[in-house]
Amino acid sequence: MSQPLTDAADLAAQLSDDEAAKRLAELAAILSDANAAYHGEDAPDISDADYDALKRENAAIEAAFPALKRADSPSDQVGAAPSAGFAKLTHSQRMLSLSNGFDAADIRDFVAGIRRYLNLSKAAPLSFTAEPKIDGLSLSLRYEGGTLVSAATRGDGAVGENVTQNARTISDIPQTLTDAPDILEVRGEVYMSHADFEALNARQISHDAKPFANPRNAAAGSLRQLDAAITKSRPLKFFAYAWGELSAPLGETQSEALKTLESLGFTINDLTKTCHSCEEMLAHYASIEEGRADLGYDIDGVVYKVDNLDYQRRLGMRSTTPRWAIAHKFPAELAWTTLEAIDIQVGRTGALSPVARLTPVTVGGVVVSNATLHNEDYIAGRDANGGPIRPDENGVGKDIRVGDRVQVYRAGDVIPKVADVDLSKRPADAQPYVYPTDCPECQSAAIREEGDAVRRCTGGLICPAQAVEKLKHFVSRAAFDIDGLGAKQAEAFYLDEWISEPADIFLLRERYGEGLQQLKNREGWGEKSATSLFSAIEDKREIALHRLIFALGIRHVGEVAASDLARHFGTWDALAETIDAAAPAAEAHLRAEAAIIAERKAAADMGRRASLQPERDKAWAGTPAAAKAAWEDLTGIDGIGATVAVSLVTTFQQPRERASIDRLIAQVTDVPPQARATQSAVAGLTIVFTGSLERMTRSEAKARAEALGAKVSGSVSAKTDIVVAGPGAGSKEKKAKDLGIELLTEDQWLDRIGDG
Ligand code: IVH
Repeated sequence: MSQPLTDAADLAAQLSDDEAAKRLAELAAILSDANAAYHGEDAPDISDADYDALKRENAAIEAAFPALKRADSPSDQVGAAPSAGFAKLTHSQRMLSLSNGFDAADIRDFVAGIRRYLNLSKAAPLSFTAEPKIDGLSLSLRYEGGTLVSAATRGDGAVGENVTQNARTISDIPQTLTDAPDILEVRGEVYMSHADFEALNARQISHDAKPFANPRNAAAGSLRQLDAAITKSRPLKFFAYAWGELSAPLGETQSEALKTLESLGFTINDLTKTCHSCEEMLAHYASIEEGRADLGYDIDGVVYKVDNLDYQRRLGMRSTTPRWAIAHKFPAELAWTTLEAIDIQVGRTGALSPVARLTPVTVGGVVVSNATLHNEDYIAGRDANGGPIRPDENGVGKDIRVGDRVQVYRAGDVIPKVADVDLSKRPADAQPYVYPTDCPECQSAAIREEGDAVRRCTGGLICPAQAVEKLKHFVSRAAFDIDGLGAKQAEAFYLDEWISEPADIFLLRERYGEGLQQLKNREGWGEKSATSLFSAIEDKREIALHRLIFALGIRHVGEVAASDLARHFGTWDALAETIDAAAPAAEAHLRAEAAIIAERKAAADMGRRASLQPERDKAWAGTPAAAKAAWEDLTGIDGIGATVAVSLVTTFQQPRERASIDRLIAQVTDVPPQARATQSAVAGLTIVFTGSLERMTRSEAKARAEALGAKVSGSVSAKTDIVVAGPGAGSKEKKAKDLGIELLTEDQWLDRIGDG
């Protein structure tokens, strides 16, 4: 990093126009990198003092050369200086939390328990307030003589953090009150609306800062900013729903007290309702849950509170929760919302995937606006065998239409999905969804093969969607993992036509020059980040073979298959040679598969036994021995079946795909899998395990053998060195005998590898 100049104003005045412009550009880049590091990773890469000095220098140059001030001037960006943290503040009365109920029975128990505790008969009136449980963070505001004197987060309930300066920036929080009790502590929830959350995240992303996971985190992160200027720039809101210390009561009931707070200028949630029976409470809960998706902010349940404050006092509290209140939580991971549109995304392998665009709704604490609809059958309400999914009362699968009220489901970290549809809410004009038969990205035909649930674009690399997805996959973590070139950048470079295929990444420097001019001028890129990108790309010219194979994004070749292939073949050339050699065999295999399906069908139609072997023989007839051997080599690898082998061969046989792969291979050097334990007695040998093993599992045996440098194969061939046969071994043991391959029992094997 270049050193900040010391006496900024003096030195600034001595610069020429060119020098000033150059230095401003440097400072913009350095400070933007520093901001990104600080906001994005919470890991500032320069000290606060250096940061401040650089900012002062920038301001001094701008003052001396106002015309040269940049559009992306660091002076216009609020940068938070890291500091020790917030002061602690002890609450005058503990901030409580709530006990939870999950169904109607829990709520009935809660009400019955209160009647028992207060010794009220079933007929005696007992009212509750019912209001949304806001999913934000609680805040306690202290007013003395009508003036806001402090604001504190809940912390552990006894001691919170003093966030007074930040709370003053929230417009829902009055700074002064008229006609308020002399001492008044108002408690409530700070939250962020969906709209403000989306806008904030868009800004975060455009500033290269990490987006927030959900509105709650965004609200917490914004309130807990050490720089109140940042809090001010983040639109936080506040609902008042409770109080702490008071010098005079706010009313006789919870609802009266809330009205008083409202008249003092606080915002009270307008879905707060006074209910006179358990059924009324549950009905209000149902109506709040129904409207949840349209509220525009997150709630995670309904809070019921005994209305009569004298009863509240009598009921008192347990250790951290009041007896007079309960939170009725929404079921964790389900929500209803409106299906606004169905978009079709085209993936790396051409698969068309329908995506539901939804009115945003919170599902298990995360705002969901997109969900998967799986495939065309799923939308139509059919499963893979044509049976119904989401059956209605007549057993007919319900289809899903744009405009429908749909249920969104999320389990753990999985992609949310549309689970169900409410036919009673279907708009009269909703039309059945017509699945496209052309690729929406390149208009090539999208075809669905027999037995495949997925429709695929046949455009290959001419399809921009496939090309972009291939690039994103190529740079992903388990593939080339190039620092500074993530999915977002790869896509942007593609759209700017800098790269259209993986090989182009390695040609960027050659094509766009050392000057890095284009890159430097891009938003979010400075000299430093541009230079590091080029060196990160150079670093990956040598690449582990398994990463290279995985990075190609060939259908069915995931990380595991890529590693299996890398281990077996050791070099790219050996792998490519085998795949090419296997081509006629792969065709024979596909012919055989088709013939077998036809034969099975014909046999079933005519009520005779299918005779498959002749079909197989016919299909394979005339296949060169070298092709058969290459095919067996490939499919003999444990974990690699015919599906993977066919996919490899097909990809290599497509001229465009192949040329693109070859261009990449010309740019990179594959590094063989780490030569492992070459000293062991079995290093370099090909082992087949067959029959049942008694002292270890098959996968353990495989891992152990591989750790010793052996290759483990699934089928016996002339290349096999040892067959380890347990009880029940059949054809493989026989074949080993026929071929004169060494046969070991499990114990003999363990002796051989020194584990006996
Ligand atoms: S009353 C003594 N009302 O939920 C009662 N809390 O899980 C104190 N919350 O810590 C809380 N909305 O942060 C109450 N309408 C509401 C609420 C609410 C959200 C939060 C609050 C509390 C947490 C307990």
